[in-house]
Amino acid sequence: MDLFTAIANRHSYRGPFQNRPVPRADLETIVRAGFQAPSGCNAQTTTFVIVDDPGVLRQIYDILGRAVIPPALIVCVAHPVTPFRDMHFELEDCSAAVENMLLAVTALGYATVWTDGELRIDGRGEKVGELLGVPAERRVQVILPVGVPADTAKPPKKLPFEQRAWFNRYGG
Ligand SMILES: Cc1cc2nc3c(=O)[nH]c(=O)nc-3n(C[C@H](O)[C@H](O)[C@H](O)COP(=O)(O)O)c2cc1C
Repeated sequence: MDLFTAIANRHSYRGPFQNRPVPRADLETIVRAGFQAPSGCNAQTTTFVIVDDPGVLRQIYDILGRAVIPPALIVCVAHPVTPFRDMHFELEDCSAAVENMLLAVTALGYATVWTDGELRIDGRGEKVGELLGVPAERRVQVILPVGVPADTAKPPKKLPFEQRAWFNRYGG
C-alpha cells in the first residue's frame, strides 16, 4: 500500500477481530517499522514485547478490563534515560515508533488502536510490565492490539486544513 493511502486509511479500531492468527512474519515487519523511527540522539529507547500466546493475551486483557481479545499485541516499553544533557526523549521516541507501526499495521490490512491512556489507570501499565518481566526502571507506555478486523469502524473527522495550518503566520 502506498504511504499516503496508509496515512489516509489509518484510524483507531476498537471492535472485535476475526479469529485468524497474525503470522509472526507480519508482526516482525510491523515492529521493524517501529525500529526505523527516529529517536533523540538515536538512543532507540523503545523496546517491544510481541505477545501472541493466548494465555498471556488473556491475562493482559484481564488487567485492562477489556472483553475483546486480539490475536496479537505489541507492548511498547519506554526507557527513561537522558541521552542529551538532562533531556528526556523516551515519550517522543516511543510515539514516533508507534506511528510507524500504526501505518505498517494499516498497510498490511490489520487494525489497531494506540492504547496508552488506559494503561495509566490503576497502575495497569505497571501490572502488564510485571507480568511480562519488564525491568522496573522501564515503563510500559503503549499497547497496540493487532488483528484482522471483524467489523468496520467509522474514522473520525479531522479538522479542515485552514483550521489547523497556515503559511507564514499563525492563524493566517
Ligand atoms: C497519546 C494517545 C493515547 C491514546 N490512548 C488511548 C487509549 O488508552 N484507548 C483508546 O481506545 N484510544 C486511545 N488513543 C487513540 C485516540 O483516541 C484516537 O487516536 C483519536 O480518537 C483519533 O482517532 P483516530 O486514531 O481514528 O484518528 C490514544 C491516542 C494517543 C495519541
